[in-house]
Formats: sequence, structure tokens, C-alpha cells
Amino acid sequence: MKSTEQNERQQDRISDVLAVQRNHRTIRQFTDEPIDKMQIAEIKAVADRTASSMGLQMASVLRITDQSIRTVFGEVTGQPYVADAPELWVFVADLHRNATIVEQKTGKKPVIGMGKFMSAYADALLMAQNVMNAVEALGLGGAFIGSIANDLSRVRQALHLPDGTYAALAVIFGHPDQTPEQKPRMPQNMRFFENTYPTDDTYLGEWDAYDEQMQAYTDLRHPDKTLPSFTDQAIRSFSGPANGRDALLSFLSRSGFQLFSEDRESSKA
Ligand SMILES: Cc1cc2nc3c(=O)[nH]c(=O)nc-3n(C[C@H](O)[C@H](O)[C@H](O)COP(=O)(O)O)c2cc1C
Repeated sequence: MKSTEQNERQQDRISDVLAVQRNHRTIRQFTDEPIDKMQIAEIKAVADRTASSMGLQMASVLRITDQSIRTVFGEVTGQPYVADAPELWVFVADLHRNATIVEQKTGKKPVIGMGKFMSAYADALLMAQNVMNAVEALGLGGAFIGSIANDLSRVRQALHLPDGTYAALAVIFGHPDQTPEQKPRMPQNMRFFENTYPTDDTYLGEWDAYDEQMQAYTDLRHPDKTLPSFTDQAIRSFSGPANGRDALLSFLSRSGFQLFSEDRESSKA
């Protein structure tokens, strides 16, 4: 039986974890203080423990310390804070490693289809989130960087990524040099459901209060103005032609993924 003291200590640790996660906010500005080596090792250990689809460990991480590669990231993302952040880690959906095992042990070239790609992509994203949790638990701060997708060919070239790999997401982190407000979230009933997806469409009026909150929020990236309402952000993001980031299939085909093969196989049947 656990003593009351043990139970209390366990309870404290649980509430510490939840408090860190509830306190999440994106940090984009950092002091010059480098991250302690022990902390890097701690974060790596957490990343390494991340669950992976089928246990196949299809995520890899590149820690970017070379200034010339960092410059490429600054240019591709159009976000200078990416190049300057104390730490810049790239999370790669990695089917290359296991494909190499298959090739070397069987002499056969494996097919890397959509299912495997999605598993590796999930592995990489989960690892990135786990790293963010560890970063925040250590009192540091960070940001996910998806804008590497602005020019995936350049990223691939800069990182010498082989066939069967895809740079899924980057994370920057360091000692925070800003204290942003938490960004408002939509009411929970808009996105947490029970059992089945609701059939009734939400009415525009239901967004009004959230739109107002968002417009009152000051994003420290542009402290001189407040954000557009949430519904305006959604309209902007979903209107207009698909951009370069949507032209993924041809990029992935050039990166050694055979994402059409399954459909072709089943259409033959
Ligand atoms: C997949 C993903 C990609 C993101 N890409 C970028 C990015 O390229 N640059 C950036 O500054 N923030 C990026 N962010 C951070 C989001 O802008 C941020 O999480 C969102 O506005 C909510 O703010 P909060 O994290 O402070 O709650 C990204 C977040 C996610 C989850």
C-alpha cells in the first residue's frame, strides 16, 4: 500500500505535468543563452520514448547547428526567428532506414505506399509534440515550424535527405524572451463530441463571441495590430487557389514514395 505521502507526491507530479501542458503558448523570441547539454540529453531521451506505429520507429531528428543550413531555413520559412533560435530540430518521417534493412537483407526493393507514409508522418509529429512537452516542462519555450513546407525541395537538398524521407515538421526552442498571452481557443463544444459527429451545422452567430476574443488577442509577432476574427482567418485560409504547399504528391513521388501504387493495384483487381 502506498503511504499518504507517496500518494501526495505522485499527485503533485501529475498536476505539474498537466499544468505545463495547460500553460502551452508558442514562443518565438529567445534569449542568447544556449540550452544546457543535460537538458538536450533529457529532451532527446523523451523524444526517444515516443510511441511509434507498429514499433517501427519511423521518425528521425536532425538537430541543425550549421549556420548555412539555418540560413536556408530562415529563407524558406520567411521567418527569421527560425534561423536565429538557439535550437532548431527537424522531425523527419523516415522510411529510408527500414527500407534499407529490407534491401540489404532480402535484395528486394520495398514499396513505400500511402499507409506506411502516414504511419511515419504520425511518428514524426508525435515525437515533435513530445519534444515540445519536454521543452515546456523544463521551463523553456518553443514553436512548431510547418512553414518548412514552403520549399520542401530546398529543405531536402540542404539536409541531404535520401529517398523515403520527408521533413514533416520543425521545432525551434530556447529560453523564452517574451511572455505572450495564451491564444484563445474556440468553445470546447465546437470540437469535442461524443460518439458520433454532430449532424446539426453550427450557426454563424455561435462564432461571434470567439471572433471577438480573437480580435482582442495580440499576437506578439505583430504587436501593433490584433488578429482578424477566427472566421475571417478560416475564410482567408480556405479561399483562393491551392498554394505550393498543396502540391505534395509530386514532391513525394520525387522523394521515393509510391503513393499511387496501392490504388493502381486495387483498380487492377
Ligand atoms: C503543425 C504546426 C505548424 C506550425 N507552423 C508554424 C510556423 O511555421 N511558424 C510559426 O511561427 N508558428 C507555427 N505554428 C504555431 C501556431 O501558429 C500556433 O500553435 C497557433 O497559432 C496557436 O498558438 P499557441 O500555440 O500559442 O496556442 C505551427 C503550429 C503547428 C501545430
